[in-house]
Amino acid sequence: SQYQIAVIVGSLRKDSFNRKLASAMAKLAPPEFSFKQLQIGDLPLYNQDDDAHQADAVKRLKAEITAAQGIIFFTPEYNRSISGVLKNAIDHASRPYGQSAWTGKPAGILGASVGPHGTAMAQQHLRNILASLDMPALGQPEAFIHAREGLFGESGDIGEGSRKLLQNWMDRYVSWVKKHTS
Ligand code: FNR
Repeated sequence: SQYQIAVIVGSLRKDSFNRKLASAMAKLAPPEFSFKQLQIGDLPLYNQDDDAHQADAVKRLKAEITAAQGIIFFTPEYNRSISGVLKNAIDHASRPYGQSAWTGKPAGILGASVGPHGTAMAQQHLRNILASLDMPALGQPEAFIHAREGLFGESGDIGEGSRKLLQNWMDRYVSWVKKHTS
């Protein structure tokens, strides 16, 4: 595809709503976009002492990010913020100093949680982090997804209730990536 999007899901849970949301969202994009969910569960805990000799899993993550034209983060909300595993992945790929893989990559932020405010707090924390990483993050529409009955249809597609919002989100994200890709 012309545009490869790296997808980072901040939950390692097998039946993660955020992982399901990531898979369903990929179907809302035009054919020139392809999506790959990057593995972050095998990354070691970040330790600055290892910056000069990053683990193979870290090198792989950084190469996949570098190859992508854009990134979409699907964040769960853990105690009113992003998950530790997501922050761990973000920190890894931001180092060594001056060699961050994230710089300039157009970012989208989505998230689903079982609480009615649907990751609003986690997404705001993530925005702060992305600003520090110098990633242009799509501002609107915001989508705080409440993981409940009917979010997904029979085939795993986005259900009726959220489809219009999320199709609009994807249309805007597609434009955002094109705008930031020379
Ligand atoms: C949660 N959950 C949660 N939900 C929420 O809306 N706000 C929150 O602050 C928290 N805090 C929280 C902390 C921890 C440690 C866990 C494990 C869970 C519930 C969370 O939304 C739910 O587990 C989702 O299913 C997580 O997303 P995945 O794993 O389905 O993608």
